[in-house]
Parts: sequence; structure tokens; C-alpha cells
Amino acid sequence: MAIRNIVQMGDDVLRKVSVEVEVFDKKLIDLLDDMKDTLKKADGAGLACVQIGLLKRVFIIDTKETGYYEFVNPKILFASGSQLGKEGCLSVKGKWGKVKRPNTVKIEAFDRKGEKFTLTAHGFFARAICHEYDHLDGILYVDKALEVWEERR
Ligand code: CO
Repeated sequence: MAIRNIVQMGDDVLRKVSVEVEVFDKKLIDLLDDMKDTLKKADGAGLACVQIGLLKRVFIIDTKETGYYEFVNPKILFASGSQLGKEGCLSVKGKWGKVKRPNTVKIEAFDRKGEKFTLTAHGFFARAICHEYDHLDGILYVDKALEVWEERR
């Protein structure tokens, strides 16, 4: 396991569309473990694979209120409602923004073993899923934010 470098806004890779994982192997497990360690070290709520420079449709979320989740080849099946809230990103250091997101999302994805699951998320969990999902399509929250400001944590 290893801590990977987190790519910062301005790097072209963050604007690329990630591709689906085709093989659920040891390499994927190692990648997920590295992402988990990297997220923990950075003290963030979520991390998409592209943020460590690899274009795979994989992201993880880890917060006190949601617990730890891994999403491989996710698809948002349904989104409803709306919420306005504060958002940050490990690839956009020192900044925060106000972003409108759905309040509920239903998502389908695979876990690290290749087992398909679906879950419905509300509130902050739904926000985190939408934020990470956008990374897979080269979208950053600053593209959607109503306002962005600088703030040190
Ligand atoms: Co982000």
C-alpha cells in the first residue's frame, strides 16, 4: 500500500473522461487500497481515481456520517430534489464553493470483488457521490459552483 500524489487543478488529466474497469484483479484491489490510504492521509471525504492520475471509473467516499464506500463503474440511476451546500475538493486546494446538487441519488456500482450493488443516498452522501461521479467525466465542482472562495482549513 502506498500514498499516491493527488493531482491539482490545471493538470489536463482531471479534464479527461475515465474508462470502465474491465478486470477485477489484484491490481484493482491494490489501487483501491492506495486510494483509501491517500484519502485518509489527505483527510478528505472522497477521492476519484483520476485524482491520482489514472483514468479509471472508480471512486471512494469516506466520512463519519456515511462510512467507507468503494464504487467501481458507477451509474447514477436516479436523482431527485435539490440541495445547496459547501463543497471542496482535494484537487482544488484552499478553495470552497457553493454547489447545487440533487438531494437524493440512486446509484449502481460494483465493489472490489466485482459484485454489483445499488444504494440510495441522501443529503451529504448524495452530494459526495455526485461530486466524485463528476470527476469520472472530467468535471470539477468549480465548473458548477454558484460561488467559489478561498479559505484555509
Ligand atoms: Co473532488
